Order: sequence, then structure tokens, then C-alpha cells
Amino acid sequence: MTSDPKTTRLAALDHAHAWHPFTPMRQWRETEPVIIDSAEGDELIDTNGNRYIDGVSSLWCNMHGHRVPEIDQAVRDQLDRVAHSTMLGLASTPSIELAARLVRAAKSLNNARQQRDLPPRAPLNKVFYSDAGATATELAIKMAVGYQHHSGRPQRKAIIAFSGAYHGDTVGAMSVGYSETFHRPFESLTFRTVFAPAPDVTNAPEARETDWPWHDKSLRKTVRDRCLKQLDAVLDEHADSIAAVMIEPLVQGAAGIVTHPEGFLAGVAQRCETRHIPLIADEVAVGFCRTGTLFACEQEGVVPDILCLAKGISAGYLPLAATLCTDEIEQAFCGEIWEHKTLYHGHTYTGNPLGCAAALANLDLIEKRDTCANARRHAETMATALDDLREHPNVGDVRQRGVMVGIDLVASRRPRTAFDHRARIGHAVCTAARAKGLIIRPLGDTVILNPMPGMKADTLKKMMKIVIETIRGFDFAALAS
Ligand SMILES: Cc1ncc(COP(=O)(O)O)c(C=O)c1O
Repeated sequence: MTSDPKTTRLAALDHAHAWHPFTPMRQWRETEPVIIDSAEGDELIDTNGNRYIDGVSSLWCNMHGHRVPEIDQAVRDQLDRVAHSTMLGLASTPSIELAARLVRAAKSLNNARQQRDLPPRAPLNKVFYSDAGATATELAIKMAVGYQHHSGRPQRKAIIAFSGAYHGDTVGAMSVGYSETFHRPFESLTFRTVFAPAPDVTNAPEARETDWPWHDKSLRKTVRDRCLKQLDAVLDEHADSIAAVMIEPLVQGAAGIVTHPEGFLAGVAQRCETRHIPLIADEVAVGFCRTGTLFACEQEGVVPDILCLAKGISAGYLPLAATLCTDEIEQAFCGEIWEHKTLYHGHTYTGNPLGCAAALANLDLIEKRDTCANARRHAETMATALDDLREHPNVGDVRQRGVMVGIDLVASRRPRTAFDHRARIGHAVCTAARAKGLIIRPLGDTVILNPMPGMKADTLKKMMKIVIETIRGFDFAALAS
């Protein structure tokens, strides 16, 4: 690749000064970075003028493509009014409008229950803004623990989370996540969380000799039932100390698109309801059509007590997050001033008007274009294309929910054996796809696809063609040896 002087200058500055997230920096500095300079529709354009399909929605947040005229205009209009004002002691027009709009959107959760003849649950009626997925989940933890404390149950402060969970990188969010390699140096900073086993079908002991285990319905049921039983035991053991159960509904994204068997989420929710334990649904990754419905919880008739939203909320435009909760939870924080029940928590950019304006335009577009229906069509296109990898000796499993896909690359299928992680096979395959004009990112040796729910059908077809060609044409033996 030949670079122009601008690219060379920027690359040198990047290598000298920029510290990239989740990036092995020594290796990063040994390669020439792709520097994104602009974008158009579903494509990102680098400083050398190369175009790439944005196959991971710029880290799972872009909804309708880049430079969407309606969202651009909404942000410009807001810029003509005010870019930022605080929500501490003041209100702002777009933050009010958006709170009401999110509460309206969350009614889809009770509507889904109604369709299943389930009784309604308390609606999510209050909205607390922050600016990232991690802050949304951190806040959810404080809401749950504070709610218990102010309701006369101060001993209830444990969070039950699931193995493989990821809820963000701040210390609280890290405490309810589960990654030995990421967290090892920081373990002493985290609080103790009780982890129940997640229903990871691909890595279940019975799945070792099974081809594409996720596709085995009876195995999914076995793993689901076992995990629910194990959850029962955890809930019994910690009965008096639990503040809340926290889950990534339907899909544990950062674990490698670990899709949960049907009925698991509903089983978790039902146990929480019976035991009067608040359920925190972290829809930071799965919310806003990615699994085919506006919220993933809709698919199992679940209305959580606390709902965390970020990423797709502002269509990939601006950092914005929201934590929604029931009136009952918010009311626990109301009292006389001297009682100090107030939730003493907030961020400078809480409810930033530009972010709220982008989010309002995003929700308008989702409704107007029926973006979730588009995502469901995309899911079918992707499933059909991925079937081409059925016989591939190095594809151990493919998991999919909506537009979220994890393709496991393995050294052998039976018994399923991983590549030596030092070979960085996932990284190598994604780099090969990039050379063909597609940006995708691995999680270890799982290739992740997560296109925009509103991507154009033609772009998606092109993207899937590149994915299949790249994996089929890849010389796994050469890299593994
Ligand atoms: C389920 C879930 N929760 C929280 C987060 C953290 O979001 P952020 O990176 O915006 O802090 C992520 C990020 O991938 C996520 O997948």
C-alpha cells in the first residue's frame, strides 16, 4: 500500500502518541494503521481513499450507515440551539423529549408480554442518562444496591452475573464481568460478584464431538435446563444477600456472540420475579434491532426492572447511554433532604443535548423505516450465506441472533480443538477481509460480524460474499504451523 504524505504524517503521530483500546500496542506500531478520514453510507473511507464496508457497525453502534441526512440535520439543528448544558439543577429540551420517547419505546416490552398472554409488569418509567455502556451498567448496579439499601434491606448488595459476561471496563462494570485475562491485574480493585454458569452451548462438555453444536436443538435444551438448575442453586445459596441479577439478554456479545438457548432468559426472569429480585437487562449490545426486535427482551416476554442502553441509542453518532428503571426503584431514592436518599451520581455530559437530538432522530428513523424488520431480513441473508461454511474443516461453530454473528475458527472440528492463540488466526482472517474491502474484528479466534441493522441489502450481500471467500480462501495450515 502506498501512502500519501498526509497518511505518513498521521501514522507517525498515531504511533508516537495514541494509545488504542484493547490493542496490543507494540504489534500495532509495527504495522501501518488504516486511518479513517470520512465515510459514506455503509462504507468507511481511509486517508488513502480506500473504501471498506463497515461490517461491525463501528463497534456495534452504527444503525443506519454514516452521514445519514436526517441525523446529520438533527445534530446541526441542535448545534444552532445549544451543544451542551448540564442536567444537574437544570433540564434541557432534547433530554426531556428523549426520556419520554425512550419510555414510550420500552412499552414494546409489555406489548410483547401481552402477545404471549402474560400479565403486565411495572413499566420502565424513569430514565437516567450517562455516556457509555459501562456507565449505564455501573449506574444500574448502584440503582439496584441503593434501592435495596433505602428499602430497609442493606444486606442485599450482591450482584448475580453470568460466566463470560461483559458489562464494560470501569471498575464496577468490570466487577460484574468475567474475564481472567482482562481483569487479572485489577482484581484487587473489584467487588465480589457471584457468577452463575451461562448456557454456552458451543463449549458445553457434551459438545466437544459435535459439529456446529449451537445448531443442535436438543443440546441447546440440555444446556439451558442445566444452567437454570445451577442458577437455582446459586439463588438459594445467596438468597439473603442478592441485590439483583444482571444479564445480557439472548446474546453475550463480548464473550464471542455466545447466543443463549431459547427460554433461558425467560427462565431467569421468572426466577427473579418469584423471588422478588430485580432483574437488570444489559441491552447495550443487543438493543436497537440487533437481534431483530427493538429490545432483545421482547423475544421472551421479559420486562426487566432496570434496562441499560447505549451503543445504538444514538445511531453511532455521539456518546450517549440511558439506564431505565421502574417507578418503584426510583421512588426508593426519594425522601426528605436530610435522609440523603438522593442518588449522588452523575457525569458532566449526562443528557448531552447533541446526543439526545441524534437519538431522537435515530428513533424516528427506526420507526419510519422499520429498521428491525430490515435486520430480520438481513439475519436470513446472513444465515443462508453462512451455511456455505458447514463443511469447512476450520469452522467449529457459527452462532447467530439477528445480525450478530460469531464464527469460531478451530484447528480441528472433532474433537473441537483451538488454534494456538499466539498464531492470532482470528486477527489474520479479519486482516485478509480488510484487504478485500471489509472491516470486521475478531474476539480471539471468533470472527464477529455485526452489520448495521439498516445496512443496504446490496452491501450486506457484498459483505457476506467477502466473508465466505476470505474464510474459504484462507490458508489455515500455513499459519497454524
Ligand atoms: C453488553 C455490554 N455492556 C456494556 C458494554 C460497554 O459499553 P461501552 O464500551 O460503551 O462502555 C458493552 C460493550 O461492548 C457490552 O457489549
